[in-house]
Amino acid sequence: MPHLVSERMGDVPSDEMTLEARLSEREYKRPSPAFIGQANAADPAIYDRIGSFPEGFEEYAEMLEWDRHWDEVFDGSNPPFFEWFAGGRLNASVNCIDRHLETRKNQAAIIWEGEAGERRTLTYQDLYREVNAMAALLTSVGVEEDDIVTIHLPMVPALPITMLACARIGAPHSVVFAGFSAGALADRVNDADSSYIVTIDGYYRRGEFLDHVDKTNRALDDIDGAPEVLVWGRHETPDVSSSYLLVDDLLDAHRRDRVEPVIRDAEDPLFLMYTSGTTGKPKGCQHRTGGYLAYVAGTSKYVLDIKPEDTYWCAADIGWITGHSYIVYGPLVLGTTTLMREGSPDHPHKGILWEVAERHDVDIFHTSPTAVRTFMKWGAEHLEGYDFDFRHLTTVGEPIQPEAWLWYYNHVGGGDAVIVDTWWQTETGGHLITNLPALADMKPGSAGLACPGIEAAVVDDAGQVMDRGGAGNLVITRPWPGMLQTVYGDDDRFIDTYWRAFSDIDSDDWTDWVYAPGDGAVYEEDGYFRILGRLDDVMNVAGHRLGTMELESAVAEVPAVAEAAVVARKHDEKGQVPDVYVTLREGIEPDATVIADIVESVENEIGSFARPANVEFVPELPKTRSGKIMRRLLENISNDEPLGNTMTLRDPSVPEAIRQQVQGR
Ligand code: PRX
Repeated sequence: MPHLVSERMGDVPSDEMTLEARLSEREYKRPSPAFIGQANAADPAIYDRIGSFPEGFEEYAEMLEWDRHWDEVFDGSNPPFFEWFAGGRLNASVNCIDRHLETRKNQAAIIWEGEAGERRTLTYQDLYREVNAMAALLTSVGVEEDDIVTIHLPMVPALPITMLACARIGAPHSVVFAGFSAGALADRVNDADSSYIVTIDGYYRRGEFLDHVDKTNRALDDIDGAPEVLVWGRHETPDVSSSYLLVDDLLDAHRRDRVEPVIRDAEDPLFLMYTSGTTGKPKGCQHRTGGYLAYVAGTSKYVLDIKPEDTYWCAADIGWITGHSYIVYGPLVLGTTTLMREGSPDHPHKGILWEVAERHDVDIFHTSPTAVRTFMKWGAEHLEGYDFDFRHLTTVGEPIQPEAWLWYYNHVGGGDAVIVDTWWQTETGGHLITNLPALADMKPGSAGLACPGIEAAVVDDAGQVMDRGGAGNLVITRPWPGMLQTVYGDDDRFIDTYWRAFSDIDSDDWTDWVYAPGDGAVYEEDGYFRILGRLDDVMNVAGHRLGTMELESAVAEVPAVAEAAVVARKHDEKGQVPDVYVTLREGIEPDATVIADIVESVENEIGSFARPANVEFVPELPKTRSGKIMRRLLENISNDEPLGNTMTLRDPSVPEAIRQQVQGR
């Protein structure tokens, strides 16, 4: 019997024969009886239970320890500034650590594998000590409740320790992915008006020690004010500016300190996470304490099927939302063992991930489609000989092609692990569309059903719900506790970006407000959502979200460049890569130096992960009569597709000339 699909979707034929026919073996995979037998969510009633709005979400909040119970589950009186569990009070670090001490103080909370071969296990008791010491240190240098602390750390234990220490003292953290450049760090520090930067001397990548503190050194030139800089040491005694504070030295004075947790209102912000949008300026997505923590706890339990006795490994970076929600907060709230690893997946050899999985007998493994495509390219032989056995696999970040899905299923999952393809965003805090693994059959390439309590739909550009099977705009029509509170410091941008398109923004009735994530999707006949990707000028490079405008501003910084357009080219491994089209200023000759300058500028302004794949010098960019650059035509050219309609252009011969230049080679 297939699960739930029929029961939940009232308008889908429930006739078993029809359903069976649709659930053909070719398309669907079923969870094994063994998996279903042990799953956290094995009763389809969960959809109705959590879907009863808004009280259903109390079940997630009840997974937390509260200092004061909430007065109201949901307050929709001032849309779109919704409140969750209003009146409730709690502390996130207590929920991730202290509450587990009684039952599992000596169980591993975090297992860390360093790239240079180091291994470190922090039990819940260890984590308690480390976080208290760091919280005491932060307080001693002046950090107060509500101060935003910028954390620019790679995948070392110092990162979750610092995050949880901030949470303990009620200081929202703003983690900036370590791969971001000095320029990107400065932008984020300035936008958050942050007076503290926590960084590290360096870290390892493919056997090389990268000087990381240098990014802070350079960022300081562009930062308004003079933030206090705290530096952890990766290996050697850090060789840094004497004005910086050395964390390891200072911690000695605080080793035995215990810091009384600052009890926060459910609506107080827990953190900011900056993400790319359609303008050049990244947005600080502000996440609340109570609703966020409740939502990541609930989804970790039911979607990821995490149990306290599991060893869970999400091979993402904590510097992105995936790591916040599903390496740190969700797993630790549930009291499980979460594994984190520094370094790239091919160093010291291409089997290292499976060696680590075997060493710790990992139960649940979580990665991106880009990583799966890379494993596929390397070949299944790199997995051979390792004795690992996953019960559950997760993907996130981009659409996964059925071919890559099946490879993951067969080679990593051994043909019996379940796979959840989780669709969500920095803004949503946690999963919104994905199957509960024991309750809905898997369909390669399709994210699946909306999560319990989540109302999703596909609408046309006028906001009308489309027929099943048609491609349109994905929307979320009802609030949920994990949603962002606002864009930090910019409520108007929050409304413009996420609500204006499909809401009646003059209404004070929350049911008139519809969240627009900016993705295209198909709502399929079986009630599954197939995600098509971004509809706006945001691209997805190896699972990293990059705004076209951010890239274009970086390219435009180069003095030789007159005008630039950046478009996404499809790429077998990375999903998409940025192609740059530029016109040069009068008298400048296109040559390798200009290309090098463009690449360098992107690396300085954003980071090397955003490096352009190709730079094309053109005499002119295609523009409409009103002067708007037609990126779509350039995207067609980059992807070897026909140009399409060029009638509305100021000069229709421009794209054709570029097409011949690029495709004619
Ligand atoms: O386009 C969607 C894509 O990633 C975007 C969100 O990126 P970010 O905020 O960086 O968060 C990534 C990790 C949650 C979405 O707007 N995306 C995310 N998950 C999927 C996906 N596209 C297809 N399938 C997914 N499972």
